Amino acid sequence: MESEKGTLPMNEVYNPGMNVYSEIYRKSLEDPENFWAKQAEILTWYSKWNKILDDSKKPFYRWFVGGKLNVSYNAVDRHLEQHRRNKAAYIWVGENGEEKIVTYDGLYRRINNLAKALLNLGIKKGDRIVLYLPMIIEAPVAMLAAARIGAVFSFVFAGFGAGALAERINDSKAVLLITADGGFRNGKVVELKKIADEALEMTSTVRNVIVIKHARNDVNMVEDRDIWYHEIVGDSHTYVEPEHMDANDPLFILYTSGTTGKPKGAVHSTGGYSVWVASTLKWAFNPDEDDRWWCAADIGWITGHSYIVFAPLILGLTSIMYEGSITYPEPDRLWEIIEKYRVNILYTSPTAIRTLMKFGEKYPQRHDLSTLKVLGTVGEPINPAAWKWYYEIIGNSRCPIIDTYWQTETGGFMIAPQRGLGLPPLKPGSATFPLPGVDPAILDDAGKEVRTGEKGYIVFRRPWPGMLMTVNNDDERYVKTYFSKFPGYYYCGDYAVKDEDGYYWLLGRSDEVMNVSGHRLGTIEIEDAIVATGLAVEAAVFGKPDPVKGEAISAFVVPKDANADRHELISEIRKRIRADLGPIYVPDEIRIVKLLPKTRSGKIMRRVVKAVALNQIPGDLTTLEDSTSVDEIKSAIEAFK
Ligand code: PRX
Repeated sequence: MESEKGTLPMNEVYNPGMNVYSEIYRKSLEDPENFWAKQAEILTWYSKWNKILDDSKKPFYRWFVGGKLNVSYNAVDRHLEQHRRNKAAYIWVGENGEEKIVTYDGLYRRINNLAKALLNLGIKKGDRIVLYLPMIIEAPVAMLAAARIGAVFSFVFAGFGAGALAERINDSKAVLLITADGGFRNGKVVELKKIADEALEMTSTVRNVIVIKHARNDVNMVEDRDIWYHEIVGDSHTYVEPEHMDANDPLFILYTSGTTGKPKGAVHSTGGYSVWVASTLKWAFNPDEDDRWWCAADIGWITGHSYIVFAPLILGLTSIMYEGSITYPEPDRLWEIIEKYRVNILYTSPTAIRTLMKFGEKYPQRHDLSTLKVLGTVGEPINPAAWKWYYEIIGNSRCPIIDTYWQTETGGFMIAPQRGLGLPPLKPGSATFPLPGVDPAILDDAGKEVRTGEKGYIVFRRPWPGMLMTVNNDDERYVKTYFSKFPGYYYCGDYAVKDEDGYYWLLGRSDEVMNVSGHRLGTIEIEDAIVATGLAVEAAVFGKPDPVKGEAISAFVVPKDANADRHELISEIRKRIRADLGPIYVPDEIRIVKLLPKTRSGKIMRRVVKAVALNQIPGDLTTLEDSTSVDEIKSAIEAFK
């Protein structure tokens, strides 16, 4: 950490306006009632709340209690009256270079049309809808149409497989699925409808499937269940009165990996979440009215929900939306889009930067990137080499890098440099300071605050408006996961350290969760899926440091049939994980072993597998049941060399 200080020309991104930040931050903690009452004016409310924060049922905090609003109204309708009718809400770019500009008025019409079609299908306020869509305009349209009529949507990332989709449909008890025939990725069509059909075999709640024609691949339409989108949404000028939703009605459920095999459905609120995402985007990036904002994430993840859809639309911005791979057809795709559409703010992940860095400077140098003024990252700690490349080569040493630390559950940014409140001098790899209302602490195992410079668990000592309300159908898991390790405090599951200047440095997960290319994947989820193939009796999965992905998935597997051909077995396991969970879950390496290290009570000691595999000291082995298992791991590694 020390050595990284002063290695970059920080003065160029230094703005002595830190005082504004300190003042606002102090107010947010000293007088949260007034602070949030004022901040909530970022939205238009049908009726105001009667209480800013109800904490009578801790840790089930409720914000803006009694307030009424509609998010689709806030994201679209109100802009029509504010001279943004013909402003582009989205500039959509397809992988094949196709482009579509959708104005606020165009978005408004699409949302109303779909909202009407949903009502015609009998969808009511409170019903659950699953969206399994590629990066197409209909994705934000579907999210906002659901919000308009008060239906709760759950978006399932289009890279997930049939098993993962089915699990989310079942957990959310969705009555409707909206999908597309297919999406594009690296020049190929991903057959989403086909995967959805497989998932629907494993579910029973879905009454109808709306299918968007996009990739034009052949699909099977099931009679009385499946409906073409274009056949139910005409382009007539329909108007659907937005439902007056309670601030604490759920807006959406988004599943994320945890420390068990079952993903958790984080439930986000209508009011608090919307105030939070719009405020945090403004504080951290401070976009101007005419800026072109590009959050280059997928809508299926929280980054896309909050910063491709809700925050930029609530603020009335113009966003770029791109469907496809960042290296297709060539590794200058991102730079080409920035030049062509004169993008001002780019927000992406360290893994994307490292991927593009590999191809060298010649790709960005082919393009005029001079419109860029701010850069951002999310998903994992950014290593100084990637920071430097991003800062110097992409930002031409002019653009501050807004490193945003947050999670699916937090709804929006928690720790980040805040351009809107005065940037601090940046330190590559540090997310710097908390946002207003965020009260972090770093604790040791005993729950005591660590000293400056010491590593510990990062927690938040008080609630904030964007926090999840609960885990879908599982209040107990909500309490256990987030509020039991350090009672009263929200536990993030990350390690962090605070330096002598008060900067926060995030140091990665402190639980059984991996961070693979900025995606949060549960080790146990993958182990369960490997065993569920029927080809293995047990498996241990862990994240192995990887220069591009951050972590790569490594699996040690005990086969059911000890005599099975290893190569065939490995490729079959890969194939089945891809179909069940999705391509991002496929282990980068699978090694076959006869046994795994376990405790005497039979628990697999993942930490021992990881340490031995990485040639580290495995720590305490006294609870190990059979010490030959350690040699097994060693010889599996040897065999592979
Ligand atoms: O470990 C942290 C890491 O990503 C986790 C959250 O993952 P997810 O819920 O999928 O959301 C990703 C997008 C917000 C965190 O617990 N993480 C995210 N951003 C950063 C980060 N780690 C360090 N620095 C960041 N900027």
